[in-house]
Amino acid sequence: MRFLILLVTIAYFALAAASFDYVIVGGGATGLALAVRLSEDSSKSVVVLEAGGTGFGNVNITNLRLSRSNFGTPEDWQFVAVPQTHGGNRVQAQAQGRVLGGGSAINSGMYTRGNEIEYDALETLGAKGWNWKSMFAAVKKSERFFPPSTPDVQVLNVTFDPAFHGIAGPVALSLQALNISRLFPAVVVPTLRALGFEMNFDSNGGRHNGPSWNYLTVLPDTSTRSHAVSGYYLPVASPLDNPGGSKVATLNGANIILSASTLNTPKILELSGVGDPNVLRSIGIDVQIDLQGVGANLCNQPMSTGTSFLMRNGTVDVGNAIRSAILDFLSRSLRS
Ligand SMILES: *[C@@H]1O[C@H](CO)[C@@H](O)[C@H](O)[C@H]1NC(C)=O
Ligand SMILES: *[C@@H]1O[C@H](CO)[C@@H](O)[C@H](O)[C@H]1NC(C)=O
Ligand SMILES: *[C@@H]1O[C@H](CO)[C@@H](O)[C@H](O)[C@H]1NC(C)=O
Ligand SMILES: *[C@@H]1O[C@H](CO)[C@@H](O)[C@H](O)[C@H]1NC(C)=O
Repeated sequence: MRFLILLVTIAYFALAAASFDYVIVGGGATGLALAVRLSEDSSKSVVVLEAGGTGFGNVNITNLRLSRSNFGTPEDWQFVAVPQTHGGNRVQAQAQGRVLGGGSAINSGMYTRGNEIEYDALETLGAKGWNWKSMFAAVKKSERFFPPSTPDVQVLNVTFDPAFHGIAGPVALSLQALNISRLFPAVVVPTLRALGFEMNFDSNGGRHNGPSWNYLTVLPDTSTRSHAVSGYYLPVASPLDNPGGSKVATLNGANIILSASTLNTPKILELSGVGDPNVLRSIGIDVQIDLQGVGANLCNQPMSTGTSFLMRNGTVDVGNAIRSAILDFLSRSLRS
């Protein structure tokens, strides 16, 4: 039997028992997956701390088409970036899930993998074993791919490579053939082909150049979101996970795992005295460990439409070519 306990909205709940083999801070995509895998060993006790609520029954979470309505709600940490010098000093929202499942509960479910070059770079930088080969095996293990249905394949000419997909994992991947997708084979593919780009049959194999289909983390039968909660946690959840009991001031973990996201994990480390001494001292925190990289070096990318290309020097502006072709297609469709 598993020993897996979930504490949501930790300000309100506390436990009688206070010592665990693993205390996982953050019940997001990473924390829940880790908790479920670690609790497969029935001799180990695991507790997950989540600052937000469960999100159970929230249609904005389950219905992927409503995902944007989570932004700015209590399910979102509602972080904002500092004014961006190279973006006209605009202040951009940085949505981040504050609910069980974390980002996987409020994102728009677009599934993509990095490029093999990027994963191999992690190993080159010193993270032994973190390379494309091992990551590819791991992401396939987490995946339950639903091949596009016959009408999608015929009408939209969807292609995929079975070798790039797992079929037995917890995260469902499927294609939601919205009508807008017709633009892709009708306009985008021919336009890009005319510009010299070949179709990418399936971008899930570590190469992204060329037009390709983008799958969503959605269950095809119910059209509901597949995420860390539905894929990892709920299948193993037990009544034990419903917290109660007397309050305790501290939780002890033989292993403490911080999985509180890119933005909150460094914050917790810094509040614990782990970080750049100059930053910590300036806000009156005693330095426990001098680790200057904490809270630094974040690179984020603007949202793109999911199309990426390696450009030759001096290449044409693909953006304008696609934009005018799409506008042309839309105005003709609206007229007919
Ligand atoms: C869903 O999102 C809408 C728009 O943000 C909001 O008004 C509504 O309260 C949300 N529903 C839930 C259950 O949070
Ligand atoms: C369908 O896709 C395949 C593979 O990309 C391509 O060879 C073929 O020309 C496409 N057919 C149409 C009608 O676009
Ligand atoms: C897609 O198009 C079909 C036929 O034109 C239409 O019946 C259907 O409502 C459309 N679906 C969506 C989601 O717009
Ligand atoms: C592209 O041009 C830049 C600037 O002239 C040069 O540094 C770079 O090596 C070129 N890249 C390729 C792939 O030719």
